[in-house]
Formats: sequence, C-alpha cells, structure tokens
Amino acid sequence: MSELERYEGSATIEKVAALARRRGFVYPSSDIYGGLGSSFDYGHYGVLLKQNVKNAWQRAMVQEREDIVLLDSAIILHPQVWVASGHVGGFSDPLVDCRTCKLRFRADHIGESSCGKRPSKHPGDTPDCDLTEAREFNLMFETSIGPVRDAGSLAYLRPETAQGIFVNFKNVTSSLRVKPPFGIAQIGKSFRNEITPGNFLFRMREFEQMEMEFFVPPADDEQWFEYWVEERRQWYLQLGMRESHLRVRVHEKTELSHYSKATSDLEYLFPIGWSELEGIANRTNFDLSAHAEHSGTKLEWIGHEERYVPYVIEPAAGADRAALAFLVDAYDEEEVAGDQRTVLRLHPRLAPVKVAVLPLIGRDEGMTGKARALYEELRRVLPAEYDDSASIGKRYRRQDEIGTPWALTIDQQTLEDDTVTIRDRDTLAQERIPISGARQLLQDRLEQPWSPRS
Ligand code: GAP
Repeated sequence: MSELERYEGSATIEKVAALARRRGFVYPSSDIYGGLGSSFDYGHYGVLLKQNVKNAWQRAMVQEREDIVLLDSAIILHPQVWVASGHVGGFSDPLVDCRTCKLRFRADHIGESSCGKRPSKHPGDTPDCDLTEAREFNLMFETSIGPVRDAGSLAYLRPETAQGIFVNFKNVTSSLRVKPPFGIAQIGKSFRNEITPGNFLFRMREFEQMEMEFFVPPADDEQWFEYWVEERRQWYLQLGMRESHLRVRVHEKTELSHYSKATSDLEYLFPIGWSELEGIANRTNFDLSAHAEHSGTKLEWIGHEERYVPYVIEPAAGADRAALAFLVDAYDEEEVAGDQRTVLRLHPRLAPVKVAVLPLIGRDEGMTGKARALYEELRRVLPAEYDDSASIGKRYRRQDEIGTPWALTIDQQTLEDDTVTIRDRDTLAQERIPISGARQLLQDRLEQPWSPRS
C-alpha cells in the first residue's frame, strides 16, 4: 500500500480532534455552554505544541538570520489602517441565505456545502431551497473604543498581523540597523468572522498568524519571491512534514488579491484534501504607498544615493493551521504484538514532552527514587514527565499518543549498575545506556535531523 493510501486511511480530522481532546491538546471552546462555533481552547500539550511551532518559526526567521527583526503590534489599530489597506472596502465573502432552512452559505462554496434540510444535497439542489442573491459580508469583527458607542468609536479586531508591520515601517527603519533587503516578523492573534468555519483548527474565527514582511528593492522582487517560496517549503520539510503531502500552488492571475502581483500557496494534503497551509505573496509597494497616502507620512527607504518605496514579499503562515498539519502528518495507527497503538510521530523539536521517566514498578521505592532524581535532573534542561501510575504498557501508550519521542525506564538492573533503557517512540527499539549520560544523549538527539519513519 502506498504511503498516501496508508495515511489517508488512518488520519481523519475527526480522529485527530478526538485524540487532541482526549489527551489534553485542544478542547472545544466554552464547552460547558455547548461550545462556540469554530473557537477552540488549547490544553497543556496543545499549548506546548503550538509554542514549539512558533519557536521553530521564530528561530528560522529571526534567530538564524541577520536580516529580520521582530515586532508585536497592537490588535486594535487606528480604524484608518483598515480603510487604507482595503479591508473596510473589500475584505468580504459573497453570501447567500436560504429562506427555508435559514442557513447562510458562501456563494463560492455552494458545491462543498450541505443543504440544511437534506445534508446529502447542496444548497439550491432541492425544490424546497429558496436562496437569496449573493451579498457581500465583511469579515472584520467590529468593536468600539471608549465609553460611548457611536460611529466615531468604531474600531476593528485585526484580521491579519501584516498591517501592524506596515504602519511601523518608519519606526523600525529609524530605530534599528536595517536596510533593504530586510524583514519584520510578527506572531499574534488575528480575527475573522468566517462564515463557513469548520474542520477543527483549520478555519477558526480567532487564530494566530506568523507573518513576515520582507522589504526589497523593487527590481529584486521576483527573485526574493522565489527565494521565500522555497525557504518556507524547506521549513516544513525540516520539521518532518512528508514531502509527498506538501506542494506549491501558483495562483492564477484571476485569483490574486488586490495588492498582489504574484502569490503561491504552500498546500498540505489534509484529510479534507489539498488545502492552503501558508501563502507567499508579492504585495508590491501597495501597502506602504496606501498608508503613506492615507496618513500623510512618507514611507520609503532613503539610502545614500537612492530613495524608493520598497516592494514587499510576504510569507504568511497560521500557527494553528501549521499545528493541525503537523498533528495530521504525525498521526498514525498500527498494530504492535497484537495490540492497536495510536502514535503521534511528531518531530522531536515539536513534541510537547521530549522524554518520559518511568519506574518499571510504580510501588518499588528504589526504582521510584532513582526515577524521580533523574526526572528532576532532566526537567531543568528539557520538557520531561514522570509517571509511575498504571502498567508500563499503558504508560508507554499514553506517551505515544502525546508524541513523546523517548522514554527512560528504571528497572531492577538500574538499581544494580546505574543504567536505564531508552525506548524510541517510532521504532520501539530499546537500548541500555548509563544514567549519567542520559541528559547529554537527549540534548544531542534533539539537535539531530529527523524524518518520519527514518
Ligand atoms: N497577510 C496575508 C494573509 O493574512 P491569508 O492567506 O488570509 O493571508 C495567512 O492568511 C495564513 O493564516 C493562512 O495561510 C492560514 O494558515 C492562516 N489563516 C487564515 N485564516 C485562518 C482561519 N480562519 N483559521 C485559521 N488559520 C487561518
């Protein structure tokens, strides 16, 4: 069976969501009130996983480079920002309402939507369906600033982090040692009143973006665009994503956003089909020019002998969507010695917990004492867990399901010669190592390249 068939057979969004809930990664938001559409809360392991995704992004985009700086701008910006960017006028989806079932659908997604009365049909397929004309619906969440709610207090929750970067272009260029080509990177929450949310973390109303705006001399835009598409593709591959499940899709001219000269999506083969994971766009000088015009502040690069409005190449990723793709890619079911096991084959750098320390017999004070001492040594340098409950088999299964790459087991022999076994999550191989070398071994392994099923 091919890798693709095997993968499609085991991972579904439903199975991944069920595992995520059962094991404390992600819960439906406001659960005790019946949930809130397309909002999710991250539990302990989910927080750690998403943090690892964001750390890996920041490490690749900022720490390991010299040409990108960080920013953390406000979520609620001056309302004029969204007028200049085009969001007030054009950030909308075409919607149709059904007067019969009272549901609302995206006009451009009718073919993928289900009729409210007959879910096996699409809206408009049955004589009972009574659809309105399509109307544009703005996706920005509105709020108001100050005690009085009137037209003057209207503000928006940002629908993308990018604009916070553009409006800080002057602050950054005048306070930091930057010169095109250079980038400004930002991780933060964005909000969109999505009409057809669903599919777990894939499309949410409140989500986190990881965006970087790379400012370049206009003549070099195409070369930097190609560079960033490949750079971003490599980032996912280096974090273990299967190459056969990742592809680049070049946007047709007719699909391009109003600001874009070229866009390529990195698409991942989710169980729902190939879907956008990240977009890389050549935004030209659209945003800097628009903000300069609306604010009256010149936003340009002034060098010794040159002056120009830089072009912008933007790799725009979603932290939640990336976490979902890594979860789906890692999810596996297999039979081991007649038992079914579910395992998350996450890259060790993404795994929420790196090592579990397990005394073989939870009631043996010799073993638990040694195990706790080792755990306390390890947790100072990497995320570790100690577990002495239930049978050793159950404890291994639990660690497999949260994707812990290594387990150290303390047994009778440990008490005699200070060695422990190290169990590999993926191969299930067990090796004996001296307890004194465990910390260094794990730290070395975390830095080594890793690929799925290697
Ligand atoms: N600044 C450009 C921009 O925001 P986008 O393609 O709309 O572009 C970038 O968003 C990325 O943000 C997407 O590729 C996706 O990973 C993530 N994203 C967008 N909308 C999302 C949503 N409703 N839920 C989860 N992630 C989302």
